[in-house]
Amino acid sequence: MKSQHIFLVGPMGAGKTTIGKHLAGLLGTAFIDVDSEIEARAGADIQWIFDMEGEAGFRERESKVLIDLVADKQPKVIATGGGIILSGDNRGILQSSGLVVYLSATFEQLVERTKRDKTRPLLQVDDREAVIKQLIETRSPLYHQVADLVFPSGSTQPLKLAKKLAEAVSAL
Ligand code: S3P
Repeated sequence: MKSQHIFLVGPMGAGKTTIGKHLAGLLGTAFIDVDSEIEARAGADIQWIFDMEGEAGFRERESKVLIDLVADKQPKVIATGGGIILSGDNRGILQSSGLVVYLSATFEQLVERTKRDKTRPLLQVDDREAVIKQLIETRSPLYHQVADLVFPSGSTQPLKLAKKLAEAVSAL
């Protein structure tokens, strides 16, 4: 394996948190979700942060959490938020601090998995499908750019998927 941390990147609804928890259990490492860490530090949820500080404020918090997480060298599985790759600095940190797995999913899968979402500020719009489509277009190249491994999150059960992913990362 390349080095200590395993970062899961990919769009909202790709299954980063669910698969990441299973993966950490299988590998015997800690699991951290960047969004949860941001919320714990702020003492508020992501919607509140977007409302009060805008997306820019949220992105600052996201970058700060990433910097702090990689400073601790204890190996971890880290589920990131879908937009973490927007910053070039963040992309550099991801690439130099561990193994980056792009959990990919099709447009249809993302629409299905996020259709009841009420917590992601970017998706609280009339035309959710248009937003998802646009985010895929703009962000896919960035996910590919940082990824050591592209892993389709597909429709299989998360635990099965995590087992396959654990084998794949162990072989790298
Ligand atoms: C975002 C994704 C979310 C969260 C925030 C912004 C994005 O994380 O960080 O709502 O820009 O794609 P998940 O990908 O874990 O849903």
